[in-house]
Amino acid sequence: MAATTHQTDFLVIGSGIAGLTYALKIADTYPDKKITVITKTQTDETNTKYAQGGIAGVWDAEHDSFNKHIEDTLIAGDGLCNKEVVEIVVKEGVERIHDIIEWGARFDKAEDGEYKLGKEGGHSEYRILHHKDVTGKEMERALVEAVAAHKNIEIIKHCFVVDLITQHHLGYLVTKGTPDITCLGVYVLNHTNNQIEKILSPVTLLATGGNGQVYRSTTNPFIATGDGVAMVYRAKGRIENMEFIQFHPTALYEPGVRGQSFLITEAVRGDGGILRNKNGEAFMERYDHRKDLAPRDIVARAIDSEMKINGTEHVYLDCRHMDLEKFKEHFPNIYEKCKSIGIDVSKHMIPVAPAAHYSCGGIKTDEWGRTSIHNLYAAGECASTGLHGANRLASNSLLEAMVFAHRCFLDVKDKTTSGKIATQYDANAVPDWNASGTNQPKEMILITQSLKEVQQIMSDYVGIVRTDTRLQRAMKRIDLLWEETEALYETTTLSPQLCELRNMITVSYLIVKCATFRKESRGLHFNTDYPNKSALLQNIVL
Ligand code: FAD
Ligand code: SIN
Repeated sequence: MAATTHQTDFLVIGSGIAGLTYALKIADTYPDKKITVITKTQTDETNTKYAQGGIAGVWDAEHDSFNKHIEDTLIAGDGLCNKEVVEIVVKEGVERIHDIIEWGARFDKAEDGEYKLGKEGGHSEYRILHHKDVTGKEMERALVEAVAAHKNIEIIKHCFVVDLITQHHLGYLVTKGTPDITCLGVYVLNHTNNQIEKILSPVTLLATGGNGQVYRSTTNPFIATGDGVAMVYRAKGRIENMEFIQFHPTALYEPGVRGQSFLITEAVRGDGGILRNKNGEAFMERYDHRKDLAPRDIVARAIDSEMKINGTEHVYLDCRHMDLEKFKEHFPNIYEKCKSIGIDVSKHMIPVAPAAHYSCGGIKTDEWGRTSIHNLYAAGECASTGLHGANRLASNSLLEAMVFAHRCFLDVKDKTTSGKIATQYDANAVPDWNASGTNQPKEMILITQSLKEVQQIMSDYVGIVRTDTRLQRAMKRIDLLWEETEALYETTTLSPQLCELRNMITVSYLIVKCATFRKESRGLHFNTDYPNKSALLQNIVL
């Protein structure tokens, strides 16, 4: 029996801030067209939902300016930002924040009705709009509600995108050198019938988020397995700068907790929180003149160094001197979480350790969000736009996602009007997924154990501090896992777990490969064999 084929006018993979922003804009412009949003679990289970600190934007024109925000972003990016893109995001960002306010997001206001602005590491001014310490939850709520009011947007939940469809599936030879690789849609795993189905569309946006789950300790939820990046790499598209993994300095240290660590937002340090080592010393002043509010790469490396020197698994964030009522008002979620595990922030210091948090690199795009594959766009954390360079400035991610979702929309609109989305390839001739020769897995342990091994390898050898030897070891072990997993993939009925494992192995390979190519230390990539910056400024593109 032939597998089901779905057809849609605009396809969106991902229901976080990037995917939903784009979907809303397309839906308003084309009320008679169908927009399909695919999401692999619940609609709001996204990195977006967990964002705490807020969204950066030049709001206080009296003290702040575009130039200051641009300068802060460039400094954090350590020489590798694309300045043109930085200017675009900072200057267009304010309008995009107005968009989400119009869609219903509520940011905290002071008694005089003005927005309260927060400050985080690397920012020279107060410019971060926030909703207490649950900004992402509020933004995602507003987006999901706005989407629900649009009849022409369909969200398909619990639907796993397995691969992009290109002319390769029609029998054409596709290599990295093929000039017109074209996306015709995707193969998805329908959880209701366990069938692989086709969703065909003239144009697709990838908004699949980050890849923190390739590390043992991460602030990212379980969905963050780098699927979009892995799919584009398999489809022979271009991937860039994967070595720049941002470790957030202050994830709550809870022994025994695996999977997703609770974040203690940098805004706590913005409000006066101080990092201390096990001897109670406020050590940041030994590392950087900006102390606790230095950019994240510097703070995370300093904590890593203190933990190694003192043989501890964490340092502390001291908030005991802060006004408790103000703390509770700005950070109610953190206050309650700490209380639930016996930490009274007014009396006890909070144990914290760095955790994988954000992928600065990803699917290479131009300034309109176009990938190297025709009719395929990427926005949000899965994309490498050039904004972040070697290290992202705090709270620039939600901003980038909105600015680029909007730019993708503008380009798609332009191309739709001028007929440039059309392709010579016949999507209707795309064959069904070939599942012959595959059987139900006999034991899930083959998948779950390999997953743990990936996380172990990446955490032990490809963490905050790297060496050539560690990277070589990581590559050898990842190669072996890749071989074993490909063999499993060829013979096993597909499951989201198996697909995620395969994607995480691919993403780990890309991180290690880029890290190996970068013979210098810059931003988030620190290799003790090359402790200095190279004079040659380069992006690593695979
Ligand atoms: P996401 O919001 O992660 O959405 C990804 C979507 O893709 C999901 O719907 C998922 O189901 C879907 N998907 C993925 N793979 C597949 C597949 N194979 N099939 C189907 N669907 C798929 N940034 C800031 O700017 N400010 C902050 O304060 C901030 N705080 C943060 C705090 C935490 C704890 C974390 C984890 C991140 C934080 N960030 C912050 C970063 C920011 O939240 C993310 O970078 C941003 O939300 C990413 O949005 P996105 O739309 O790209 O992806
Ligand atoms: C935080 O709130 O500390 C996270 C902000 C970010 O990742 O941009």
